[in-house]
Amino acid sequence: MNALLLTTVLATLTGCPQHRTWHSCCPQPVCAAPTCCQPVAITCCSINCTSIAPAPMTAPSVPAPPMEKVASLYERLGGEAAVKAVVDDFVGRAAGNPKVNFTRKGIKEWEASEANVAKLKTNLVNLIGALTGGPQKYTGKDMKSLHAGMKITTAEFGALAGDLKATLDKFKVPAKEQAELMKIVGSTQGDIVEVK
Ligand code: HEM
Repeated sequence: MNALLLTTVLATLTGCPQHRTWHSCCPQPVCAAPTCCQPVAITCCSINCTSIAPAPMTAPSVPAPPMEKVASLYERLGGEAAVKAVVDDFVGRAAGNPKVNFTRKGIKEWEASEANVAKLKTNLVNLIGALTGGPQKYTGKDMKSLHAGMKITTAEFGALAGDLKATLDKFKVPAKEQAELMKIVGSTQGDIVEVK
């Protein structure tokens, strides 16, 4: 027996009006209430036919847009070439700033030889790279032991931060990236400053 014939027979047996038909989703073959007699194409089931509820309407599923990858600070700064250029300019600036006293004259003197300066710059690039999401690894000593005994003051640290800001301005680094980098550098203050 095909489906149309079956529903017509059931409609007759259950007393559904002519223009309506019995729906096979109703669990009882003999409907006690006319709610089982629904117009064709409307899914039935209520009151006496509660065992199968119509499927709730749901919004058509729209695939979520792919998550956009947020560029790391390192990438936004311009990658290795940009970080190297920043470190170059910054070290030169800080080394020549008496308010920083980078070589620690009169305290724990550091020789600004070509080799020492080159090593300092390489380690700074690696440190900044590693802290901003670049591929570099920093393998040097931690900030506290590196600067121990240098008697660096809060004012000297502030002057160094000012030099970094001047370098970032020179390279037209946008304010957002400047703020992010200054925050990272500023987070070392507690380990570097010995004289508050
Ligand atoms: C007023 C502040 C600072 C002064 C005067 C200063 C001074 C120095 C000096 C003299 C050295 C050489 C030490 C040595 O090789 O024995 C050094 C090393 C280093 N400093 Fe600073 N520093 C200051 C702040 C900072 C800050 C803010 C950072 C990074 C966030 C930093 C990162 C480094 C690194 C990575 C080295 C190791 C270089 C190497 O291994 O050759 N310094 N610092």
